[in-house]
Amino acid sequence: MTNKLNRREFMAASTAAIVGAAASGTLKAQAPALAVSKGIPPVVIASSNGHQFKNGGDVTCVERAFRMMTEGSDVLDSLIAGVNIVELDPLDSSVGYGGLPNADGVVQLDSSCMHGPKKRAGAVACLEGVRTPSLVAQKVMDVTDHHLIVGKGAQDFARLMGFKIEDDLNTSKSRQLWMEWKRRTDPEHWLDPDKRLMAGYRAGMSMVADGLIDRDHHFGTINCNGINSKGEICGITTTSGLAWKIPGRVGDSPILGAGLYVEDRVGAAGSTGRGEANLYGLSSFLIVELMRQGRHPKDAGLEALRRIANNTIDKRLCDAMGRPNFQVIFYSLNGKGEYAGTSMFPTKYAVCTEKGGQLLDTAALYSEWPRRN
Ligand code: GLY
Repeated sequence: MTNKLNRREFMAASTAAIVGAAASGTLKAQAPALAVSKGIPPVVIASSNGHQFKNGGDVTCVERAFRMMTEGSDVLDSLIAGVNIVELDPLDSSVGYGGLPNADGVVQLDSSCMHGPKKRAGAVACLEGVRTPSLVAQKVMDVTDHHLIVGKGAQDFARLMGFKIEDDLNTSKSRQLWMEWKRRTDPEHWLDPDKRLMAGYRAGMSMVADGLIDRDHHFGTINCNGINSKGEICGITTTSGLAWKIPGRVGDSPILGAGLYVEDRVGAAGSTGRGEANLYGLSSFLIVELMRQGRHPKDAGLEALRRIANNTIDKRLCDAMGRPNFQVIFYSLNGKGEYAGTSMFPTKYAVCTEKGGQLLDTAALYSEWPRRN
């Protein structure tokens, strides 16, 4: 029964027990029950878009997830209900409906989820036409023996599962931004492929510099992880991926161990930012593994960032000081309910605890943003 209580109820029940025990003179005898007060403080953490009001609503992703979780809903169901707010927001150009499209102007979405207690996972990649890829990833987890379904197969699967398939997930905003990207990248249409790749990247970054795209939306994504008072841990990552990507490009978000990893009782880690860096180093798995060895979520995240920095030697990916010229952010929590946001460069992350939702500063590997070459 006790473990069905949320923390607030638990604290109230514990306090009542102490007061009652003190009044009856049996405080000492009651003491072992207080061991339960070491129960896990529930928490939901996410990327900063997890604590913004969306679609004119008055509840954010982390608040919705936290409320559902502490009212007894399954942790993963709660987290997915939270990220659905962001996926369905036409103005969030990093996730779901209205996410920035690929180089051909097609919105292709990636998502993965992991359920700690059930030890199950599901993911989709390059999914077109479904606004909420997180729910399709959860279906993959729930009804198949597989962990990842991609492309047309993912869309056919979603159709069979009853999801509405739309012709185009662009909004007028994402379409206009794509047109602007085309204008900046392809004046002569097909360049030398290497030059074209870099031209595309630079054009995207110049649109960030000009304020047309939110700096965190170039690589897109929301990651949201939670632990309830029973210590059950789950996580979800969902994204439209890198803006203007080569069609078919898959980032870290749907790859278990890269953009998300969960091990029940040990911890969860997920990421936003340059997915290629996490694919190379399986950063989320690394962070959870480091937490298993006793590292605090902050130290584990900073270690993963250090490894990314050490592995980044291509000049095109380095700034004038030889540091990575891209952002990567980790959202990590451990089985004790300790948590941290860590990043290559300073930014914010979202948290919801009993005190409510808030944005906090990440611990950054570098205190200053990249310097241009
Ligand atoms: N982290 C999102 C992506 O690179 O696709």
